[in-house]
Amino acid sequence: MTNDISPISSPTIDNKEQDDTWSSQKYVKNASFVPVLGAPVVKLLDPQAHERILDLGAGDGVLTIELEKKCKSVVAIDSSSDMIRAAAIIGCQDARVVDGHDLVDNALANGDFDAVFSNAALHWMKKDPVRVIQGVNKSLKTGGRFVAEMGGHMNVAEVRGGLHAALKKRGINNPEQYDPWFFPGVNTYKRMLEESGFRVDYIELIPRLTPLSTDVAGWIDTFGFMFMKPFENNEEEKKAIAQEVQNNLTFSQDEGVWHIMYVRLRFKATKIN
Ligand SMILES: C[S@@+](CC[C@H](N)C(=O)[O-])C[C@H]1O[C@@H](n2cnc3c(N)ncnc32)[C@H](O)[C@@H]1O
Repeated sequence: MTNDISPISSPTIDNKEQDDTWSSQKYVKNASFVPVLGAPVVKLLDPQAHERILDLGAGDGVLTIELEKKCKSVVAIDSSSDMIRAAAIIGCQDARVVDGHDLVDNALANGDFDAVFSNAALHWMKKDPVRVIQGVNKSLKTGGRFVAEMGGHMNVAEVRGGLHAALKKRGINNPEQYDPWFFPGVNTYKRMLEESGFRVDYIELIPRLTPLSTDVAGWIDTFGFMFMKPFENNEEEKKAIAQEVQNNLTFSQDEGVWHIMYVRLRFKATKIN
């Protein structure tokens, strides 16, 4: 990576726990399917040429760039400085390090955005999902749209269950404490949106069998890293856990291609107050 990070606006790093457990390099190698599969969410957003859009949990900015082509301006925010640096390098015009939980107190939450977009990121904001939605609400104009896709109820359940079992086997009785994901069902998230000043225009759980560009162990390395926290300094144990989960999922290969059953929660909501 070069040092050319000039497009980053003065970063405010609010999340001490999570930033830079993410690696943009691993993300490109093992997860390039994520922004590609975000195309229907961009379609649902239907960005217009005059619009100002906030991309929440923008990652390495691949979808942000797509949005930039279609509207007036986009601000990309993410809690990982590594991701934001990658987003700036590929040309995102305004990329900032902001934790979604702190958006509500950020200068960006000024009621000036026509839409807030988010792909594959909201389920990582587990600490206080309602606070995240409140930040989105405060960022939007009245009548503004919140359009997103996130992991939903029963997302990646086979791998998640495997990780819980592997941790329990190693004496961790409450693996939930290392589980970074909030995968809500339709009823839960609809209620949260409505209680935070939105009208829900559309919300649906979408099962999506997803082929991987890596194996399950590679997927765990990219996305399941928070489960490995108790074994931070034990590379061998981390590898053993990932391998154990994978070995229990040999049925999830088709002609050598590994698959995971994703369930996405896709929605469109409008700010009413
Ligand atoms: C799977 S990536 C998705 C990135 C991008 N939206 C895409 O479609 O490729 C999830 C992103 O959420 C970000 N993220 C996780 N927790 C966050 C938080 N609390 N606030 C803001 N971003 C967060 C991660 O840093 C990561 O870049």
